[in-house]
Amino acid sequence: METLAILVAAGRGERLGAARPKAFLELGGRALLRWAAQAFERAATVEGFVAVVPAEEAETARELLSDLSKLRAVVAGGARRQDSVRAGLAQVPPGFDGVVLVHDAARAFVEPALIDAVAAAARESGAALPVLALVDTVKRVRDGFVTETLDRSELFGAQTPQGFRFALLERACREADAQGLLLTDECMAVERTGSPVRAVPGSARNRKITTPADLQWAEALLREERLSA
Ligand code: CTP
Ligand code: MG
Repeated sequence: METLAILVAAGRGERLGAARPKAFLELGGRALLRWAAQAFERAATVEGFVAVVPAEEAETARELLSDLSKLRAVVAGGARRQDSVRAGLAQVPPGFDGVVLVHDAARAFVEPALIDAVAAAARESGAALPVLALVDTVKRVRDGFVTETLDRSELFGAQTPQGFRFALLERACREADAQGLLLTDECMAVERTGSPVRAVPGSARNRKITTPADLQWAEALLREERLSA
């Protein structure tokens, strides 16, 4: 079964607060988008990928990724993450009967092995995502007061890439859009259809670079790895 990937990189990176859209910031001399794209280039199960970027960065992105043999297209994203995903889905050939992986370019250090693991689980179960156990005790808070302590053993943080059989993802996203739902990930749309979504072990390295502290973490990780190389 063929596997295609959509790298969503069209966000503004407001929480990071840099001058450029987040995916184009450099870590160790390489843009976040390129870090992520190289992992997909190396993942054995991936046949091709599409990059979804801010319209004004499309030319830059094409140059940035031009030497990667699996790059199929660079397209402009939309205002919301789900609009960017839709722009990526439009590049998948109609009738494609393989797996589509959707990945946050902001998870720049995703490992090829994790990409392959999600693709395999999605092929088998229809939909899959990587998750990480939460480390803190989790409270529900309303109006400044705790109302409940949740059972942490059942709670996990969702990562990407999230993988789906194409037809399932396409239909779930279309239905969610028609109902005006705001999605923070694609599994949300698929869960609503009642189709099973398999959880596979995620990785700490696959952290989403969201705030300046995440960027510092990423820089420290690179420094450490360069020292030990
Ligand atoms: N994304 C996208 N299109 C959007 C919004 C987000 O392609 N309209 C992508 C981002 O580029 C990122 C991923 O979705 O790779 C996860 O989103 P997030 O971490 O929230 O990135 P930003 O939206 O850029 O950051 P912020 O919310 O802080 O502005
Ligand atoms: Mg965002």
